[in-house]
Amino acid sequence: MVLPIYLLGTEILRTNTEEIRADSEPLQVLIDDMIATIQGAGGIGLAAPQVGLTERLFIVDLLPMKENLIGQDIEIPDQPMVFINPTIVEESDEDSEMEEGCLSIPDVHEEVLRPEAIRIRYLDRNFQAHNRRFYGMLARVIQHEFDHLEGILFIDLISPFKRRLLKRKLKEIIDGEIEADYPVFVSGKGVLHAEISRKTQ
Ligand code: NI
Repeated sequence: MVLPIYLLGTEILRTNTEEIRADSEPLQVLIDDMIATIQGAGGIGLAAPQVGLTERLFIVDLLPMKENLIGQDIEIPDQPMVFINPTIVEESDEDSEMEEGCLSIPDVHEEVLRPEAIRIRYLDRNFQAHNRRFYGMLARVIQHEFDHLEGILFIDLISPFKRRLLKRKLKEIIDGEIEADYPVFVSGKGVLHAEISRKTQ
């Protein structure tokens, strides 16, 4: 089932998340729903707060970018990657700058400086533990999604000057005055573009 994506301005995007204590059927359904939601919206990452929940969980799916990344030294997993209870345990000293966007902040793209590589500990959807190093594009998306679990959005990481230039655009998003081609949840208004949700289910 495709879930509405909570937009900038909703409280949940700034709320701390909680560890997932055990596997359960509802959790597996949620993971499938989040994968359907990401794919329906054409995104590459989605964290639980973006669908209105406080679980420490996010999904990364670079498959839509596969063609763009051909020839680059990047391994793209065949399946969406599920990260449960993640902890970033190491960050490289070297930083890199890359343009980011977010399904919760439609049509805004800005360069963000982040560590080039990270090591992260997490459970996959089968509750198998991993401790893996990621670099490049994957490290980028993982850090962006991880930030969502801490209530941090990528627009928090750009310069105050750039943020000021975006002020009007961000207000439009907060007010739900946007043309997202996926269902969204707007603070004080509820679910908009729900007809899209029905179509893609
Ligand atoms: Ni995001």
